[in-house]
Amino acid sequence: MNSHQVQGPAIRVRGLRKSYGRLNVLRGVDFDVARGSIFALLGSNGAGKTTTVRILSTLLRADAGTASVHGFDVAAQAAKVRESLSLTGQFAAVDEILTGRENLVLVARLRHLKNSGRIADDLLARFSLTEAAGRRVGTYSGGMRRRLDIAMSLVGNPPVVFLDEPTTGLDPQGRIEVWQSVRELAGQGTTVLLTTQYLDEAEQLADRIAILHSGRLIADGTLAELRQLLPPATVEYVEKQPTLEDVFLAIVGATGTTGRAGTDTKEPR
Ligand SMILES: Nc1ncnc2c1ncn2[C@@H]1O[C@H](COP(=O)(O)OP(=O)(O)O)[C@@H](O)[C@H]1O
Ligand SMILES: [Mg+2]
Repeated sequence: MNSHQVQGPAIRVRGLRKSYGRLNVLRGVDFDVARGSIFALLGSNGAGKTTTVRILSTLLRADAGTASVHGFDVAAQAAKVRESLSLTGQFAAVDEILTGRENLVLVARLRHLKNSGRIADDLLARFSLTEAAGRRVGTYSGGMRRRLDIAMSLVGNPPVVFLDEPTTGLDPQGRIEVWQSVRELAGQGTTVLLTTQYLDEAEQLADRIAILHSGRLIADGTLAELRQLLPPATVEYVEKQPTLEDVFLAIVGATGTTGRAGTDTKEPR
């Protein structure tokens, strides 16, 4: 399934636009995702992250612009695009009655793969689920469930994986477990596009981060590049190493954010 070799980026997006009625969700979005890298699409709730992912995975048609995944055009070569990717959403698609291993075997059989048992065992090992393999998923923690969900999306070895808010709703331990799984994924050469509303998640995981705000990408770069966007005047108070949150607030402006009360107690101003 991986045999199609593409030149250039794993994902290429140009001039993407999408409206729902009068709501302009995407107003011209461009980005590239290099093969084998982790790309974070960062944005608040309602920014258009899921809309972007749905267009890239051929579930939704853009109003304008082009996009390709693994070298295939999402509009003209939708079937090829679907063969090249897997999509894991915020809500795990696992069967609670089955065990972890049974879930994986089921997916492998549905995809007509031989050696479904071996595929399941390999993935269980990769995602540190071997011990829990024989337990019903109903007994799993949130982090284990999400890891199993990611493992299921890898059956058949898709070169490109979309993770739409993979840690939303998880407790801190679960988030760390999922982060490890995402790193494991990219370590094997899979291209990962993840969406998140968590700045620290993007900072932890991504080779490249794009910030989606008001329908456009207002920033796109490595963490080091984004840090350089901070105006020099503020460099002093962030002590030369601004976090992504500092950069985000400087670009977006503090007005567009929520839940900031009670933070910044360490920094008297
Ligand atoms: N099918 C739809 N019809 C109308 N509005 C929608 C639809 N899907 C999403 N929206 C709106 O589009 C905006 C972007 O949604 P979404 O892409 O889900 O954002 P995100 O995933 O970043 O939270 C939101 O304001 C949402 O309410
Ligand atoms: Mg979403």
